[in-house]
Amino acid sequence: MARQTVFSGIQPTGNIHIGNYLGALRNWVALQAEYDCIYCVVDLHAITVPQDPATFPADRHDAAKVLLAMGVDPTRSLLYYQSRVPQHAELSWILSTIASTGQLSRMTQFKDKADKAGSNLGLYAYPVLMAADILLFRADAVPVGEDQKQHLELTRDLAERFNARFGPEFPLPEPIIPKTGARIMSLQDPANKMSKSDPDPESRILILDDAATIQRRVKRAVTDSGGEVRYDWAAKPGISNLMEMYGLFTGASMDQIEADFGGGGYGRFKGAVAEAIIAGLAPMQQAYRALDDAEVDRLLEEGAAVARERAEPLQQAVRRRVGLAV
Ligand code: AMP
Ligand code: TRP
Repeated sequence: MARQTVFSGIQPTGNIHIGNYLGALRNWVALQAEYDCIYCVVDLHAITVPQDPATFPADRHDAAKVLLAMGVDPTRSLLYYQSRVPQHAELSWILSTIASTGQLSRMTQFKDKADKAGSNLGLYAYPVLMAADILLFRADAVPVGEDQKQHLELTRDLAERFNARFGPEFPLPEPIIPKTGARIMSLQDPANKMSKSDPDPESRILILDDAATIQRRVKRAVTDSGGEVRYDWAAKPGISNLMEMYGLFTGASMDQIEADFGGGGYGRFKGAVAEAIIAGLAPMQQAYRALDDAEVDRLLEEGAAVARERAEPLQQAVRRRVGLAV
């Protein structure tokens, strides 16, 4: 049987953080062992909020480097910049003609971002482009964090609607969302997710942060009153968040962490959390420093060339279905 196809994307807005890693990117790496994987640096999505044209190329390049450093392996998986494969935008347009404006208006990410940044048509159409990314390659599975669940539902709705109207073309993709780590929270406010766009840099830990920064950010992380290390999201969201991070970086279960740190006070536990994160990120940081920039550019261009070739016959089938090609 042919291997199933996995597709996922990340926006190249600098700042890749441990929430991205624990929620999604570590799955990207793991899934390569079994699946045909396609990973995309979604630059067209990123420009739905203002980017500086002078620094955007460097941000995009850097995001690609972080993915390579984490273990996205271009000899096994496709890795490229979305804008270099024009079929994404073409399919997005076609899908937009069957997307319901009512449903798009209900997307929570759109509502959040439109509140903060003001709205534009691209921001509104963002989930349709995401659906096009996934459906272009007929992906079966999509590793993402919890916040993308609603977009995956929209993707499935669009696939179903297209299939019903034009004939069976798209499989319905399944999200792959981890049981723990799918929603890593801000270090400064455990009611909100850790986010690239949070104005407070102390709210997140970046993949490339140095040891002193990580120690400081964990130490200053907002925790709950009382000193007991207990996994309880309702009563102790700050500590539960740190426990998930610690567990994911060390392999320890929540029970184990409670047994080891329960009564020892927050200070000792926070020290251990910082050490675990520093140790977990060290190999990625080393791999990042070893990458050659020209080679990274070459790999991404090569990925895009392969992706264009692979996308074209698939997109031609879509054109035929809707009557744009015979
Ligand atoms: P983005 O930063 O929006 O480009 O997201 C890239 C991937 O990381 C997506 O699959 C998100 O669902 C995931 N992600 C983003 N923030 C978090 C978070 N705080 N916790 C877990 N996963 C996240
Ligand atoms: N919207 C996703 C995010 O913000 C990024 C993304 C774009 C994506 N296209 C995708 C994720 C396709 C999975 C599949 O995180």
